[in-house]
Amino acid sequence: MQKAIGIFDSGIGGLTVLKEIVAKLPDENIIYLGDTARVPYGIRSAETVTRYSFENTQFLLAQEIKMLVVACNTASAVSLEAVKKEFPLPIIGVLDPGARAAVRTTRSRTVGVIGTEATIRSGAYEKAIKKLAPDVHVHSLACPLFVPLAEEGWTDNDVAELVARKYLASFQDTGIDTLVLGCTHYPLLKTVINKVIGPGIALIDSATETAKEVADVLEKLKWRGNGIGEGIRKYYVTDTPARFEQIGKRFLGDSMLRAEQVKVGGV
Ligand code: DGL
Repeated sequence: MQKAIGIFDSGIGGLTVLKEIVAKLPDENIIYLGDTARVPYGIRSAETVTRYSFENTQFLLAQEIKMLVVACNTASAVSLEAVKKEFPLPIIGVLDPGARAAVRTTRSRTVGVIGTEATIRSGAYEKAIKKLAPDVHVHSLACPLFVPLAEEGWTDNDVAELVARKYLASFQDTGIDTLVLGCTHYPLLKTVINKVIGPGIALIDSATETAKEVADVLEKLKWRGNGIGEGIRKYYVTDTPARFEQIGKRFLGDSMLRAEQVKVGGV
């Protein structure tokens, strides 16, 4: 079997990244690990998330992958550098592609970033954006309730809208013209976020940007798949698969989603 692209996330949310990679590179084999026994990462310390990232990477490396995608924004924000130093394969996080797209898009040179508490606390998006364009102002906000809303499938109802209104009011009068959806789950709330924040503000979806980067890196390395047919996709989870399969089907629009439970690190 041709070597696969390995993807991990704290749980289900990384399927938004997988979906974009599949859309762009349908012939690639993909192995996905959702650390559903230890989700959410967004409320944990950098040390703990880094340990989880190492353990997830070790598991995927044992599956013979050619590249690793850290689909979780929190894990990318707090552990990507450490993972890159430790493991000798091409590794892509979701943060830099999102930051690059934001810098490319903003005209007002003022960008909003929303993410989990850990992502926002790390300041990683701000650093990445400032490194690319020191003149860009960044306004960041943690929106923790968006994750359970997406998991519940409440992505476009009155509750989602009310929560979005409460959070996004912070961006009023900041002058942002671009908002980075800095969490795997937030693209699912795109419609409601768009409605609340208004049409004048561009939404940056790190999932699509990351898929582009994956394609570019594989192309450069000449490691692309053989271009024949659909790739094989395998899904592993660290908790029992039922919930992942049920919600994952909604995320992917795939009625056939089957996952296997595995032990990773201590779980
Ligand atoms: N995957 C996480 C992220 O993108 C969201 C869920 C969590 O907190 O684990 O930040």
